[in-house]
Order: sequence, then structure tokens, then C-alpha cells
Amino acid sequence: MSMPNRRDEAAALLMEEVLPEDLGGARVLVVGEPTGRVAAAVSARGGRPTPWRRAGPGARPWPPDGPFDLATVRLRRERGAFLLALHAAASRLAPGGTLWVHGANDEGIRSAGKRMAEVLAGVEAVRAARHCRVLVGRRDERPVRGALADWRQVGEIALPSGRRPWVSYPGTFARGGLDPATLALLAHIPRLADGARVLDFACGTGPIAAEVLARYPRARVEMVDHDALAVEAARENAPRARAIVGDALPEGPFAHILANPPYHDGVARSYAVVEALVRDAPGHLTRRGDLRIVVQRQVPVRRWRPDATVLHEDGRFRVWRIAR
Ligand SMILES: C[S@@+](CC[C@H](N)C(=O)[O-])C[C@H]1O[C@@H](n2cnc3c(N)ncnc32)[C@H](O)[C@@H]1O
Repeated sequence: MSMPNRRDEAAALLMEEVLPEDLGGARVLVVGEPTGRVAAAVSARGGRPTPWRRAGPGARPWPPDGPFDLATVRLRRERGAFLLALHAAASRLAPGGTLWVHGANDEGIRSAGKRMAEVLAGVEAVRAARHCRVLVGRRDERPVRGALADWRQVGEIALPSGRRPWVSYPGTFARGGLDPATLALLAHIPRLADGARVLDFACGTGPIAAEVLARYPRARVEMVDHDALAVEAARENAPRARAIVGDALPEGPFAHILANPPYHDGVARSYAVVEALVRDAPGHLTRRGDLRIVVQRQVPVRRWRPDATVLHEDGRFRVWRIAR
């Protein structure tokens, strides 16, 4: 599970500092805030918080209807993902409701005001401290893209099995395209028997699952990702696979677990997910099963599994095989 980082902590603290002292029963939508501090502060001040996160515990693809009197939005570094969160939150506000955005300078909070002005009136910075800022604006009549379908993008992907239309949402991996690391792993999809169970862990929009099913239509494929919007797209891209929002390995045993796992947590490098996967996957495999992952060269896979073997390496990536 991804843990809040120090930027999350600093941004939450600043948001707490500017929240009104008495929220008098106000309904507050708390968007993308991983520390839980903002929701706790809303409750402590007499407000009624509703957290919405697209990724992580309790993830849902879109916020509940509301209407809300106030919304807080934790800034996202990627512009498209931030715009989606901003429009989603603004669309749930009652007329005249206020929307607060909090984030760190190196995540781009200084330019967030321009984006906010697309959907909010009277946007201004209200506080800056500890390399973070809070901006606020008011909901008026400006049009918003207030439905998940407004953000669905259909492009094209060139999988080894052929070109095909490809669904994605802002903030999903590789902007809905095919990453070179994923392509390296696809060259090492094992031969599969009919009915073999395969897991695509951290599936993103589902290119690994889709390629497995194109080559082996009788395989039983499952996909897991902690981002509910990635899973929403993966469901369309690999409709015959079972899709799960979460960050845990499903009950095995799997003949193979395939993954291009994350090694970033927000802006910081973190090997927590890949390390947990390397350590835990063998317990979810059949006796002759294996885990195949692609990671950047510097990821110290052999520190966690000295018997791991390299199936492919180039200037940037290694594809590893870890037998049960
Ligand atoms: C490098 S991308 C790979 C996506 C896809 N497999 C591909 O190759 O295009 C990593 C994916 O891991 C997901 N992710 C990040 N942390 C996760 C976690 N703790 N549990 C499950 N998925 C996670 C992200 O949402 C992202 O879709």
C-alpha cells in the first residue's frame, strides 16, 4: 500500500490551518488526501467529511453526488489528473460553495490557480508555508466536466498481437500508451496451458492482460490496480479478464504473475510495492509457477530474492523471473 509522504503531511497540515474554525454541519468533500488529517479536522470542527480517492483504500472512480458546501482537493502533479479531480469536485459543489486546493511548490501549486479559474470564481492564494500553499475559489455558473464519461479517452495502442483502440483516463500510466518497459515484459509472456490462471498485478489500463488474452484466449486472467480509474479502463480494454480495485494479491494459486510494478510514490522513489511483490508473490503461485516483472535496472531485486534470474536487460530495464 502506498503511504503518505512528507509532502502529503505538509500539505494536509496547511489545509488544516486554513479550514474555518466552525463548520456548523457543512458537508465537505475531501479529495485525494492520503493522510486522513483533513477529514479528521473537518469532523473536529463540526463538519461532515466525505473522502473521495481514486486510488488507495476505499478508492472509487468518481465522487458521490453531494451536493457539498465545501471541497478540499489535494493537488496532483500531473496536470490532467489534477484537472479531472478539480472538475469532479467542482461539479459536486452547491452554488456558492468553496473549493480549496492544497499542495507543494514542487508539485506545481503556484500554477494551480490558472486551472482553478476555469471552474471557479475569485480564485486567490490564502496561505503559504513550509513549501506548500492553499488556494481557494467559489463555485459559480462556469461549465464543468462533471461526469466520468467526460474524461474517457479512446486512443490506439500497438500491442505485439496488433493495433487496437485503447481506453484511458487522465492520470493513468503511460498516458494510455504502451511503455517500453511493458513492451519488454510482453516479449517474455510464458507459454500458457488452457485454463491457466494468470495475474496482471498493477495492471494500469490493462496492456499485459490484453496481450495475454490475445495470445491465449483460454487463459483465466485477473487484473489488480489500486487506481479505480485505471481499472475502469482495463475493464474495457481486456473485457474477458476479471478486474479488481486494490493493492493486495488475490488468493492464488496463479500459474504466472506478470507485472510492471510502480517504483514511485508521488514524486519520491519507493521500492515498497515491488519489494512486497517479490517477497509475497511466491506464496500465490502454483508449484511450477513464476513471477515475471520488469523494473528499472537499479531496482535491487536480488537483494530480496538471490535466486532471481534475468530474462532480458537493456540500458534501462531488466525483466526478472522469480520461481516459486
Ligand atoms: C508502471 S505502471 C504499469 C501499468 C501497466 N501494467 C502497464 O504496464 O502499462 C504501475 C501501476 O501500478 C499501480 N499501482 C501503484 N501503486 C500500487 C499499489 N500499491 N497496488 C496496486 N497498484 C498500484 C498504478 O496505478 C499504475 O497503474
